[in-house]
Amino acid sequence: MNVLVVGGAGYIGSHMVRQLHAAGHRVTVLDNLSTGFPEAVTAGNLVVGDMADQELVKSVLTENSIDAVMHFAACALVGESVASPAKYYRNNVLATIELLDAMRAVEVKRIVFSSSCATYGIPDVVPISEATPQNPVNPYGFTKLVIERALEDYAKAYGFGFAALRYFNAAGASPLGGIGEDHDPESHLIPLVLQVALGQRKHISIFGTDWPTPDSTCVRDYIHVDDLSSAHLAAVERIELGKGLKVNLGTGNGFSVKQIIETCREVTGHEIPAIESDRRPGDPPELVADASLAKEVLGWEPKYLTPKPIIETAWKWHQSNPTGYAKTDTGPPASTKYLVEAYLSKKQTAVPKQSEITR
Ligand code: UFG
Repeated sequence: MNVLVVGGAGYIGSHMVRQLHAAGHRVTVLDNLSTGFPEAVTAGNLVVGDMADQELVKSVLTENSIDAVMHFAACALVGESVASPAKYYRNNVLATIELLDAMRAVEVKRIVFSSSCATYGIPDVVPISEATPQNPVNPYGFTKLVIERALEDYAKAYGFGFAALRYFNAAGASPLGGIGEDHDPESHLIPLVLQVALGQRKHISIFGTDWPTPDSTCVRDYIHVDDLSSAHLAAVERIELGKGLKVNLGTGNGFSVKQIIETCREVTGHEIPAIESDRRPGDPPELVADASLAKEVLGWEPKYLTPKPIIETAWKWHQSNPTGYAKTDTGPPASTKYLVEAYLSKKQTAVPKQSEITR
């Protein structure tokens, strides 16, 4: 298959690119590099551009004979979405509709969409199945739900086929090395704890020690990025035009903040000071997937079922790249760089600027 990975220079997208390539698919990446890194793209062609640029997307889709799109390009910080909802509705909703309409214009109608457990809000019952009502409690979760609904409507009206994969907590790094998690600012638990182990932070704050959970700290379902990627591979092969799949991607196992910190101590051999802090606004106490539907419809099994092997891969990445991509890598491989430059120079002459496009 020829697959366009939108957001393929980001954390999850870059792991997807590696896995698609290894499975024999031909990969093209479209990324505006707002949060991604060219160094993270280890296979295929990288086109630097925005998914909201319909003319660019149409030319990338046709020139590369794309069969299916995987869409990872989203802003994904819950707190930021509350403070800056416009950014989230623009990037996650408006730009995605532009992407879908560019696909529609050139008859590419298969898409795998990164949705989220944030679409469920604060569920009454855990584990969370796909039948759990979707009542997001923050703008991030709403933007993901809006696109799920848009995809259903695009399937009915325009014959799109889609898979909306509702991720729980993505974690870990490729055991092959070279790619991993690098966010600025970092807000996720595991990389923050590992930064304490590296001596880059003094302590980790535990957000809330009065939750209605077994050890009074929040419980999450941590899923390895390579397991997320293998579910995408299974999903893209099963997409049927006119239909949609909506499935949870988690392990079905929940672990508390304290258990994660303890596992990081075990993996790294460092003390990792932790201090108790107030609850973080908007955090649900417990998010654990009922992942049985994904196993049934995708024939998929996660390989990493507990945090320890996941954290081992993350620790390997953080040790080898203590400052992430930006300060340790020498830049994209020459061939990738060439493609970016060649594409951009071609685009300058062949494609009208965004402001010149008449809609
Ligand atoms: N946590 C701490 N201290 C920290 C950071 C996090 O105690 O310094 C806690 C959080 O309160 C939470 C758990 O660790 O209980 C995990 O937090 P993360 O920020 O790593 O992940 P979230 O569960 O908040 O976020 C994830 C995804 C989001 C998604 C959200 C749905 O990363 O994209 O689940 O709730 F929207």
